Amino acid sequence: MALTNKQLPKLGFLYMDHVLRFFDHSNFKGWPNKIETVTYHWGKDKARFVKEVKRKKIDVLIGNIPATAYETFREIQRELPNVRFVPSVDTQFSNKSKENVTRFAWKYDHPIPKTYIYYNRPNGAKFLEKCEYPKIIKKSYGPSNYGGYFVHKVDSAKEAKELYANKKYHPMYFQDFVPMEADIRVMLIGHKPVCAFWRRAPEGEWLTNTSQGGSMDYMDVPKNVLDLAVQVSKDAKAEYWACDVAYGKDGKVRILECATAFAAFPYIRDWIGQYIMWNVSEGRFRKPHMPMFNWEELGKIDPSLLRTMRHITFGAYNASYDGAYFGKTKKMHGDGEKYIHELDEEYKVYGVKKRFTEEWPSEIYNYQDRFSLKNLKSMKVPNLKKEDAPSPDEADESTQMPKVSQEELKEIITSVSGIGKKKFEKIIDELGSSEEVVGVLEQSPSILLNIKGITKKLVEEITNRWNLFKNS
Ligand SMILES: Nc1ncnc2c1ncn2[C@@H]1O[C@H](COP(=O)(O)OP(=O)(O)O)[C@@H](O)[C@H]1O
Ligand SMILES: [Mg+2]
Repeated sequence: MALTNKQLPKLGFLYMDHVLRFFDHSNFKGWPNKIETVTYHWGKDKARFVKEVKRKKIDVLIGNIPATAYETFREIQRELPNVRFVPSVDTQFSNKSKENVTRFAWKYDHPIPKTYIYYNRPNGAKFLEKCEYPKIIKKSYGPSNYGGYFVHKVDSAKEAKELYANKKYHPMYFQDFVPMEADIRVMLIGHKPVCAFWRRAPEGEWLTNTSQGGSMDYMDVPKNVLDLAVQVSKDAKAEYWACDVAYGKDGKVRILECATAFAAFPYIRDWIGQYIMWNVSEGRFRKPHMPMFNWEELGKIDPSLLRTMRHITFGAYNASYDGAYFGKTKKMHGDGEKYIHELDEEYKVYGVKKRFTEEWPSEIYNYQDRFSLKNLKSMKVPNLKKEDAPSPDEADESTQMPKVSQEELKEIITSVSGIGKKKFEKIIDELGSSEEVVGVLEQSPSILLNIKGITKKLVEEITNRWNLFKNS
């Protein structure tokens, strides 16, 4: 039964001060009622936040929870048992840390590179003395998706030891090195792949990082990659989801990362909005039709144009009308050729249901706070320099990102002598957006050193100007 306006659940957007908004009203085109917004202000804001959600009588709270707020939101959720979080706080478990991604994959038996997690540093060190190399050492928690900035390849026990002597990475999180052809990002809505692309490392390198000269393309993502992403999304019970899959030189596929928070073109966020409207309205709104491999066609459009395209809709396949692209086109997939509309049958859009129990209670799974670094007397590593990573304790603050327009940012950064319009644009290009640049300036300015032509001195100057601006 389709719900009337009055029967529809009350929607609210979950926003965080200083954090990029994944959704706004424009993604929920056609929703007939007011959509509330509730903003979390960080610090000791839990009680006020809960009260506001209750006062506004919100039934469905929509939005991503960043890593540093994750544990607080597990508590908030307990105080709002009647509110459905979309995605659920359990689904967002993987957003918190690489450790959580790993624990999730272990539970569901998903293929991942062999991973080691040590809270006991002496034991970790002992293991690193005798294990095989190379290994990949990663920072589990903190700013991620800076394209491998907190990811290091070590070739010997000596290198591993040196790395851990300099970095306070906690827990010790490392993996076997997996030689790979490429990694593939798959985005899913209702467990259906809606976009997928390859990211390849530059010749002779191992990091599949497009901002460092790697390449990306949308063509012929293999079936086993899509199938793995679907399975992972199902196990996460994710309304929407992104998965990075490593495509090994051995032909095997492994999960590298997965989360509900990811960068997506606006038209994809529109699809998610439409999907959620369908999902919570008992059929009042139509499920968006997102044909398989649409990304191979949309991917041919210039990204700067694609970024401006909104509410892309496709007609569904109709047997009596055979002139349509998605009805006529065949695609190699797995063992043979299939029509795209057949693949749409195979890869369905599923309705994700509200969950009422906790799958990942913090009492068990919040290892990080239970075994935090400051409780470990065995730790004798120097403090990180300021421009390196924020420790978990500082991290709450580090996610408070001041808002600034691209124009303002340009003014600030190009006021540094040695940085002109071109270099500024390069910075934006490399990091993806002005918001990312602000994030980097706030959390770890030294990431800028990865950009050609940016020296230590320039980073210092930029950081100074940025701080002046912030404090003005
Ligand atoms: N176990 C591994 N073996 C080989 N390469 C890896 C491994 N783990 C990560 N990488 C490479 O490092 C990149 C960054 O790692 P990832 O876990 O995605 O961290 P980040 O949060 O920095 O994106 C990956 O895209 C991949 O190219
Ligand atoms: Mg990554």
